[in-house]
Amino acid sequence: MTAPRLAIIGGTGLTRLKDLEITHRRVMHTPYGEPSGPLVFGHLNGIETVFLPRHGARHTIPPHQVNYRANIWALHNTGVEAAIAVAAVGGITECMQPGQLAIPDQIIDYTWSRANTYFEGGHLDEVTHVDMTWPYCPEVREKLLNAAGELELPVCEQGTYGATQGPRLETAAEIDRMERDGCDLVGMTGMPETALARELGLSYAACAVIANRAAGRSKGEITMDEIGRNLETGMEQVKRLLARVIAS
Ligand code: HPA
Repeated sequence: MTAPRLAIIGGTGLTRLKDLEITHRRVMHTPYGEPSGPLVFGHLNGIETVFLPRHGARHTIPPHQVNYRANIWALHNTGVEAAIAVAAVGGITECMQPGQLAIPDQIIDYTWSRANTYFEGGHLDEVTHVDMTWPYCPEVREKLLNAAGELELPVCEQGTYGATQGPRLETAAEIDRMERDGCDLVGMTGMPETALARELGLSYAACAVIANRAAGRSKGEITMDEIGRNLETGMEQVKRLLARVIAS
């Protein structure tokens, strides 16, 4: 069996990749515990791909309880060349409008008390610090941007993702603070996933789907209905984008 070329991590709204012709599923046990579910192997556009829904197949694992270490370890262990993480987010700055896609180029971590490193405990020969200046793999980002260009999909070509703890949404004041910090997007799963991929040397980039305007950025409250509707539109675009990336 050859290694899959690409790993896709599905977020809220993408628990299943319907165009993936599934060949098998593999239950993985890692030194860090169990991933969110069995890895799903198959062919996407004829290319070997592995898919993992971050919140579990039935969308039951909240962002602060995802076993990010097990997920990234398991995917890296399959020998993939690269990983694309799909994530639902709120749009903070003006250009980040619901239903649209964005390929972030920076991230700020506001999460706490998550298992956020492989470099601790008995696994370590010496203290190690990975470089995170550019947190996302430029080559994988470029593939996403080129594919979006070929499909004429409107995407925000860069942006800073602010990773919050959840599972609650933010207050308007928290979003104001994040905007002052330079965040364009807010989501709950970008960290520690991004840093863990870097620690293992896994080429990783994110494709964010804007599900709603962030707190205080539109009239009224944010509803799950609104999030669901916008994700439906956005995920159709994501599926087309992924199929094109894999063909490249
Ligand atoms: N905040 C945090 N995470 C999110 C949001 C949000 O507004 N929308 C979708 N995921």
